Amino acid sequence: MTNTTETSFEANIDALAAANATADVEPATPEAIPQAFPITVRVRRFDPDVAEEPYWQDFQVDVFSTDRVLDALHTIKWDQDGTLSFRRSCAHGVCGSDAMRINGLNRLACKTLIKDLNSKEPITVEAIKGLPLEKDLIVNMDPFFAAYREIMPFLITNGHEPTKERLQTQEERARFDDSTKCILCAACTTSCPVFWNDGQYFGPAAIVGAHRFIFDSRDTGASTRLEILNSKEGVWRCRTTFNCTEACPRGIQITHAIAEVKQALIRGKI
Ligand code: SF4
Ligand code: FES
Repeated sequence: MTNTTETSFEANIDALAAANATADVEPATPEAIPQAFPITVRVRRFDPDVAEEPYWQDFQVDVFSTDRVLDALHTIKWDQDGTLSFRRSCAHGVCGSDAMRINGLNRLACKTLIKDLNSKEPITVEAIKGLPLEKDLIVNMDPFFAAYREIMPFLITNGHEPTKERLQTQEERARFDDSTKCILCAACTTSCPVFWNDGQYFGPAAIVGAHRFIFDSRDTGASTRLEILNSKEGVWRCRTTFNCTEACPRGIQITHAIAEVKQALIRGKI
């Protein structure tokens, strides 16, 4: 008995082999080899041991379009001027240590590609605003973390040791999912005009940190945190400029989170 499935399979293989043998095979075109090109990086320098005022300094750097601003800063530091100071650690948008103002906007240097900037003009790089400038691109982060600590960024429970997991539904978990993404880079707080004018304001990052626990069904410290954020340095200082949301490298809807905290205060419930 003829096996029709096997026969048609063999026929297909033969037809394919014949087609391949007669086809005009185009030679593969080698992909264009990326070329480095020169850019100007204009850095706002500051060294209190050398001069009282910051000043701008231009550096010429050869880069590839897929390089990040962080790569350009590394090239400057390693090949041209070892005194250039900036923070960075992971180089992959996780640690939050390299927030800086690039072309006037707060961004992470390790997530900002040269090809997304106008490389025909000098690329300006300066420290984030509103925190004390220490050296070049480094600011003193103490006030930022002090505000964050004040909102008690840890789970508060009513004291008893649990005998089993503290369970939570998917809906309950979703309520604070966005605010768990914060990497404490300070891009939001230091893009906020209220924070620039008055360093007393808690700032968006601290409010995001509070939101993460206020809306966590397992936490019992919401009323304490809301009381803290109801103070004159708290959420009511927010003028809804959206600078923070635009600056956040994690895409957190910060203005929405602040609005939720305000609503919780107005309604007196979460
Ligand atoms: S909310 Fe966004 S911008 Fe603000 S500190 Fe967290 S990650 Fe950075
Ligand atoms: S170096 Fe870690 S976020 Fe940029």
